[in-house]
Parts: sequence; C-alpha cells; structure tokens
Amino acid sequence: MRADKPIGTWLLYWPCAWSIALAAAPGTLPDLKLLAICGTGAFLMRSAGCIINDLWDKDFDRQVERCATRPLASGELNTKQAITLLAGLLSASLGCLVQLNLTTIALGFTAIIPTILYPLAKRYTNWPQIVLGGTFNYGAIMGYTAVTNTFVPEAIIPLYLSTIFWTLVYDTIYAHQDKEDDIKIGVKSTALRLGEQTKPWLTAFSAGMITNLAFAGIMTNQTWPFFFAIAATSCHLGWQISTLQINNRSDCWNKFTANQWIGALIFSGIIVGTLLKE
Ligand SMILES: *[C@@H]1O[C@H](CO)[C@@H](O)[C@H](O)[C@H]1NC(C)=O
Repeated sequence: MRADKPIGTWLLYWPCAWSIALAAAPGTLPDLKLLAICGTGAFLMRSAGCIINDLWDKDFDRQVERCATRPLASGELNTKQAITLLAGLLSASLGCLVQLNLTTIALGFTAIIPTILYPLAKRYTNWPQIVLGGTFNYGAIMGYTAVTNTFVPEAIIPLYLSTIFWTLVYDTIYAHQDKEDDIKIGVKSTALRLGEQTKPWLTAFSAGMITNLAFAGIMTNQTWPFFFAIAATSCHLGWQISTLQINNRSDCWNKFTANQWIGALIFSGIIVGTLLKE
C-alpha cells in the first residue's frame, strides 16, 4: 500500500484540508472531525488508488526498474488478493463518506469514475496529469460541501482549479523521473510532451495555481495571513522551478516531495486568515 511513501497521502489530503478550513465560519478553527475523516479517507483512497493503478499497470511495471518490485508486478501478490484488499479499502472509504452530508456523499460517488479511468489516460493522452489533477483534487470540492452542505461555486471552482494547476506542477516534476522508462513502454506524460520547455510551462502552471487560489481567497473574504501564505508559496514554487534539474532523478524526487510543505503553508495561512476574519 506504499505506506512507506506518505507523500501521496499528503498531496491527496491537503486540498481537502484547505477546503474544510476555507469554509470555516469567520473567527473559528476548522472542524477537527471533518479534518480527521478527510485524513482517513485520503489514506484509504491513496492506497486504493495505488492498487487500481498497479492492477492496470502490472505488465508495464515489470519492465520499469523503479516499479518492478511493486507487489503485483513481482508476483508477490496475486490479482485476486489485490482485488480483495481493494474491496476492503473501498468499503472502509465508504464508511468515512457516509458520515458526511448528502451533497458530499453524492459528490463522493461521482469521483469513482475518474479514479478508475485515470490510469488509462496515460496510454492515450500526453496530458494525463490534467486527468490526474481533476481526480486527485476532488477533496477540494468535497471539503467545502462537507462544511456547508451546498455547492458554493465562487469559492469551490477557483480552489479546485488552483489544485489542478498544482498537480500539473508537481506531477510533471515527478514524471521527469520516469521518462526514460515511459518512452520504452509507450506511456505518455507531460514530462515527455514538454521536454526542454518544462520550466516555462511549470511557471505558467504555478501562475494558474496562485491566481486561482488568490481568487478563492478574495471570494471567501480571506485576510492578510492567507495572502502572505500565497506569496510565500510563490517563492517556494519559484525556488523549485529555478533549481530543478529535469534530468536528475533524485532532484526531481526532492522537488516533488517538497510540495507537501506548500500544503502545510497554505493550510496554516487559511487557518490564521480565517481566525482574523470579522
Ligand atoms: C542530483 O540532485 C541531487 C539532489 O538535489 C544532488 O545532490 C546531485 O548533486 C545532483 N546530481 C548531479 C549530477 O547534478
């Protein structure tokens, strides 16, 4: 279940946590119970996502050095055991989901389809990261509705878009690690599509993230600590992009994982910004 690499869970958790915190009433802390449900859900869905991905990819993974030791690719776990484990994880996730309000439960069900289809996207498009972003950041929508029980488009849509841009940034960096293997087995990615043009594109994605996040903040009457956190995030992204060595695997991994700090930074900004709201 890749519990040894918690970065995936963190990146899944942050958009949901931001959303819960952004929806909190002025002057209050975010709902701790919702944050806990979201954290549990992120861990379970991340594990389920890994299994779904590995089920689609087990024949590919055998050919990829970094992935050949994944339990399904190596034969340590057979398909039937994997599906049983997947069913268990999905049932437990459902247990988290049903504790939320009806709007959020309904949204949760619609997330199943892209979750299953994402692993196919990388076979057919150069931009699988967009599909990943749309799927992976459902929490940015569901966190808000879990608090409000209604879809608040002016806050939720820019927040969701900003998290999709964020995924484009970190997952393009991530995909640069795998590009040689991906060429060999015929898998597509933004890293291959953008190649030497990666840095200008990452800069544009970052601008998309920051602009949408600022917009979400304006729409929710956020205060200066939130905008301070956005400014600090811009600097962090600037550092990532300017120092990134796209042909150095360990550097790509380090920059990719550094994104968890952006998650924590924005989350803190939203909390303090909301406490200062009148
Ligand atoms: C690759 O990146 C790592 C981590 O940032 C760094 O320590 C190493 O020197 C880099 N390797 C090369 C060949 O530049």
